[in-house]
Amino acid sequence: MSKFSELKKINVNTFSKMKSEGEKIATLTAYDYTSAMMLDKAGVELILVGDSLGMVINGYDSTIPVTIDEIIYHSKSVRRAVKRAFLVADMPFGTYHISDEQSIANCVRVIKETGFDAVKIEGGSNRAPLVRKLTEAGIPVMGGHIGLMPQMVNIMGGYKIQGRSGDADMIADAKALEDAGAFAIVVEGVVAEVAAKVSESISIPTIGIGAGAGCDGQILVFHDVFGMFDDFVPKFVKQYADVKTIIADACRDYINDVKASRFPEEKHSF
Ligand code: KIV
Repeated sequence: MSKFSELKKINVNTFSKMKSEGEKIATLTAYDYTSAMMLDKAGVELILVGDSLGMVINGYDSTIPVTIDEIIYHSKSVRRAVKRAFLVADMPFGTYHISDEQSIANCVRVIKETGFDAVKIEGGSNRAPLVRKLTEAGIPVMGGHIGLMPQMVNIMGGYKIQGRSGDADMIADAKALEDAGAFAIVVEGVVAEVAAKVSESISIPTIGIGAGAGCDGQILVFHDVFGMFDDFVPKFVKQYADVKTIIADACRDYINDVKASRFPEEKHSF
């Protein structure tokens, strides 16, 4: 038990304190009331309603089609469940790309309609001016992704590990986001050694996914961690449970019970 696990509510300042005291930050995604409640009660410090919902909830093959309305819908469900964790909503592709005015209006809408604490936008130095404007407007921003940017999949030509040829741009990106006021930065799909250097180069925390143990915190997708989604399981995922098998076995038991008239029993009847 650390002093941070006793905090009743995590706020935007908690994360830099955790980094400076060497306490790793445990974060996960969630998309609905029940899952978010379980994660909050278990003690994760930050919950992200990620645009990964495009794949694990909607069955799209990338995050590109996700809409702002989908993020708001899921975020509202998560908000109702969570008492302690810091809540971050992912801004989907196209919602912060057209103009500063439109980007700020979209982020304001997400914060006002969901009651979330912060937004996440993808990008490095190129997004720093927007991060500054959002922060000045009173909206905490989680920056990144440094490294692999899933919303840029069509430009990058796939989900490729970044940083094999050095770290210069990534450190510059991280510093630009920190200077602009981001409270944390996601580092995704980056060679561990490079991600560690990025983490050492800034005072705000890095939250890694597929970026090794040198990051200040970790994030994974709910369905990957609990073994609910195996269309594709990346190498960086550690499955902590096999819920898919538990549900499939239980479902077969249910089907068999219904067909054999073993369910409902008298105790389930009125
Ligand atoms: O959309 C998402 O879930 C994410 C995290 C995995 C960082 O961006």
